Amino acid sequence: MSAFNKPYSEMIAILDFGSQYNQLIARRVRENRVYSELLPFDISPESLIALNPKGIILSGGPASVLDKDAPLPHREILELGVPVLGICYGMQALAYLSGGKIIRGEKGEYGSRKLSIDNQENLFYGLNKNLTVWMSHKDEVSHLPPGFEVIAHTGTCSVAAMRDKKRNLYAVQFHPEVAHTPQGKEIISNFLFKVCRCSPEWTMSSFIEYSIQKIRQKVGKKRVICALSGGIDSSVTAVLINKAIGNNLECVFVDNGLLRRGEVEKVKKIFGEHFNLNMNFVQAKERFLERLKEVKDPEKKRKIIGEEFINVFTEEARKLGKIEFLAQGTLYPDAIESVSTKGGPSATIKSHHNVGGLPKKMHFKLIEPLRDLFKDEARKLGKELRLPGEIIERQPFPGPGLAVRIVGEVDSERLDILQRADEIVSEEMQKYEGYKNIWQSFAVLLPLKSVGVMGDERTYEYTIALRAVKSTDGMTADWVRLPYTLLEKISQRIINEVKGVNRVVYDISSKPPSTIEWE
Ligand code: XMP
Repeated sequence: MSAFNKPYSEMIAILDFGSQYNQLIARRVRENRVYSELLPFDISPESLIALNPKGIILSGGPASVLDKDAPLPHREILELGVPVLGICYGMQALAYLSGGKIIRGEKGEYGSRKLSIDNQENLFYGLNKNLTVWMSHKDEVSHLPPGFEVIAHTGTCSVAAMRDKKRNLYAVQFHPEVAHTPQGKEIISNFLFKVCRCSPEWTMSSFIEYSIQKIRQKVGKKRVICALSGGIDSSVTAVLINKAIGNNLECVFVDNGLLRRGEVEKVKKIFGEHFNLNMNFVQAKERFLERLKEVKDPEKKRKIIGEEFINVFTEEARKLGKIEFLAQGTLYPDAIESVSTKGGPSATIKSHHNVGGLPKKMHFKLIEPLRDLFKDEARKLGKELRLPGEIIERQPFPGPGLAVRIVGEVDSERLDILQRADEIVSEEMQKYEGYKNIWQSFAVLLPLKSVGVMGDERTYEYTIALRAVKSTDGMTADWVRLPYTLLEKISQRIINEVKGVNRVVYDISSKPPSTIEWE
């Protein structure tokens, strides 16, 4: 860290106790235009002082301070004169180290709770006396540490928030960082501006500078190969790395045959027109389809595509000479849904191919500059890097492509059907006035044939499911109430124009419990 010019004038240090929401805390702080970084919970006071934080947040986590090996921060960090906010486990750690008493609650509190605020100064400034908050804890503070007072409680938790005003130590038992605490944003921003006295000055351009320095330091004069798919994540990654190391970046676009129709031409055009990147196009449709033959299991498909993708890469890299690094546009939600956090409850839901599918003996070292960011932050970054609107406004497209939108076996015939249907969906959706607010809209080919009638003929053909969802980060999503006239138009066009389809249905499920993609 000290080797870099700092990417901030002010920063908030988040000590990481392993909660699945930790990146969300970092993101909430960034949303307030204050830089923040997740740091190991046991960072030494000296290292922390070197970062000169304006505030420290102790995150939540799955442990209990009552356990023998409970993760605890160094006590001295509470004595630096820097404001502290403990969240959930962080509150218990703060209370414990300050001389309070923690007990294991009988039942714990999980889910939405009514919070009553007892003191509306600083942390709860400008908020109603009664709030809805999200709780997820078993242990609770039974005796306040000396110097602390209760500033909020719930029906079952007498210390739902506390403070030592003199020493600027604050703590909340609930999670202000999650959307289920609707006023959480205000609470975090009160901590930043009323308690820590930060100024909202951090911008994406400082993130760019910082990332460029980090990339240069990691890569030096070595070369990087980048998987450019034309989506926002990989495009931002490529342009960022290109800014850092120029010609030492080689971009490879793999046409795996599982892309939207016309995609290859589109990417050639955009990157040929707007950027000065070293581009290498590889045609690999046949090899992907060959390996996917007779494979029905979604996870197997993802793993195969991930592996084949890396195979193509390794071969291409060899042709390009010595290359040590592979750059990928992995975002934070990709990582969290693929890797279960240590001890945390987030089980593997789907192996996103750029994370879970990587074979163990891969020869590249990885560079993932967007790993801490959410999709909308990647878009902001893209804007800052002057990527064309056409790329920035693109809907996300899964790494394994249309393979996860063909339920069951993937073959040339089905791919062709889906590509045609998908093209119609894209065309019609882009004409729709609400298109900008839609996270994703696409067609899915079901392995289900049904009877229909066309002219005087009986038909027995496939079903297309139409999916359109709203979301802010892909972690949760709601289906879009599209106008009937639009649904009708799409359905009519698909049935009339796509040979092999005689039925269209609309998917009205939200995430959770469904996921956005069907596989
Ligand atoms: P799910 O289906 O898990 O999707 O609700 C959440 C978001 O992630 C995208 N997605 C992927 N992106 N590789 C990716 O890069 C993948 O394997 C993958 N699977 C799903 C999906 O399109 C949605 O935006």
